[in-house]
Amino acid sequence: MAKPENFLVACDIGTSKVCILIGEQNAGGALDVIGKGASANRGTRKGNIINVDATIEAIKRAAEEAEIMAGVQISRAWVGLSGSQVRSFNSRGVVAVAGKDRGITKEDVDRVIEAAKSVQIPQDHVVVHSIARDFAVDGQDGIPDPVGMIGNRLEADVLVVTAPVAVTQNVETCMNKAGIEVIELVLEQFAAAEAVLTPDEKELGIGLVDIGGGTTEVAVYQKGTIVHTAVVPIGGDHFTNDLAVVLRAPITDAERLKKKYGCALRSAVGDDEMVEVPMVGGRAPKLCPRSTLADILQPRAEELLGLVHDDLQRLGLDKEIRSGLVLTGGGAELEGVIEIAEGIFDGPVRRGVPAGVGGLVDVVSRPEWATATGLLLYGHRHKPSRRRARAFFQAANSVSRFIRDFF
Ligand SMILES: Nc1ncnc2c1ncn2[C@@H]1O[C@H](COP(=O)(O)OP(=O)(O)OP(=O)(O)O)[C@@H](O)[C@H]1O
Ligand SMILES: [Mg+2]
Repeated sequence: MAKPENFLVACDIGTSKVCILIGEQNAGGALDVIGKGASANRGTRKGNIINVDATIEAIKRAAEEAEIMAGVQISRAWVGLSGSQVRSFNSRGVVAVAGKDRGITKEDVDRVIEAAKSVQIPQDHVVVHSIARDFAVDGQDGIPDPVGMIGNRLEADVLVVTAPVAVTQNVETCMNKAGIEVIELVLEQFAAAEAVLTPDEKELGIGLVDIGGGTTEVAVYQKGTIVHTAVVPIGGDHFTNDLAVVLRAPITDAERLKKKYGCALRSAVGDDEMVEVPMVGGRAPKLCPRSTLADILQPRAEELLGLVHDDLQRLGLDKEIRSGLVLTGGGAELEGVIEIAEGIFDGPVRRGVPAGVGGLVDVVSRPEWATATGLLLYGHRHKPSRRRARAFFQAANSVSRFIRDFF
C-alpha cells in the first residue's frame, strides 16, 4: 500500500456541492487522482457558510464517497476559500537590506512581503495570501527574484488577499467537525488557475472567470503572477432562477431545462424547436420555444460578463489580458456563454478543463472540477516535508477517527 505522505486531499466547499478529490504521488513524482466524492450542499449561500450542520454533512458524504473509491482514509486536506466577502488589494513593502557585502537573502524577501502585509486590512479580516509579483532593488524595478542581488533598499509589490475571520473559522469548524484537518485555506480562483492556465498564458496576461452556483470568481494573471482577484455575486443559480420565474417552472425543472436546452446565445437557437416546461403547482406542462429560454438566459450572461469586464476595465486590466479569458465552474458549461464572453471582451475565450493530473482523469475533465483539481496541484507543489507529513498523518488519523465517531 502507498505511504500516507504520498496522498493529498482537496476539498472545494461550493454553493452547489462539496467536491473532494484524493490524489496520490506516483513513482515519477506526478499526481494521480485516485478518488472523487461530490455531495449536494444546502449549507452555503454566495460562497459563505450559512448552515454549519448541513455543510458538515455534505463534507462527510463527499469524503466517504472519495474514501471508498480510493481505499484510503482522509485525515487532512487543502481547502478552497471563496465567498463574496473575500477581498484583495495591492500593497508595496519597503525594507533596508545589508548593502554591498552580502546579497539579498530569502529572509530579506520574507521581510519585505511582511512589510507589505502590515498595511491596514479591513476590520476583523485575516490575511489569507500575500503574493509578491514584482521586486525593486535600489529603485530598479521589474525584478522577479531579487535573491543574491546587491543593494540597500528592497521593495515589493504584493497582492494581499484577506477574508473575514468568521468566514475562515466557519470553514475550519465544518472541516474539523467532519473529521478533517485543514492544512491550508487556498483562494479558489488561485487554485483553479493551477489546473487550467498554462505558464505562457499567465506570462502574457489572462483572466480566469469561475462561474459557480452562487458567485463568479475572477483572477487576473500578468507576467506569471496573480495581480487581481474579484467576486461578482452572480452565478449559475441566477440563470436557473430567471428561467423558473419567467416560465413559472419549479426550480429543479428549471435547472434541468437550463442544462439540457439552455443557450446563452439567442442567435444560435432556431425558432422551431419546442421544449416541454413543467409548471409550478402541478398545473399541466406547456410547450415553449427553445429560443424563449435563450431570450431569458442571454441578458443574464451579458450582465454577469459585463460586470466582470467593468471591474477589469476600471483597473485598466481589460487591455492586459492578451491571452484572453478562461471560463471554469459549472456555469461555464452553458452553451453560448463562450461566444457572449468573446463579444464582450473582444478577445479569445475558452473553457478551462483541468490538466496536469493523471489517474482518473475522466472524472475531473470538466470545468466544474477545476477548483478541486487545482487544490490538489497546489497541495502537491506546497506539500510539507515527508517526515513532518508522516508524523502529522499518524496523529491526525487517530484524531479524525475519534471526531468522526463522536459526531
Ligand atoms: N451543463 C450545464 N449547463 C449550464 N449550467 C450548468 C451545467 N452544469 C452545471 N451548471 C451550473 O453550474 C453551477 C454550479 O457550478 P459549480 O459546481 O462550479 O458551483 P459551486 O462551486 O458549487 O459554487 P460556488 O463556486 O459559487 O460556491 C450551477 O448553477 C449549475 O446549474
Ligand atoms: Mg466553486
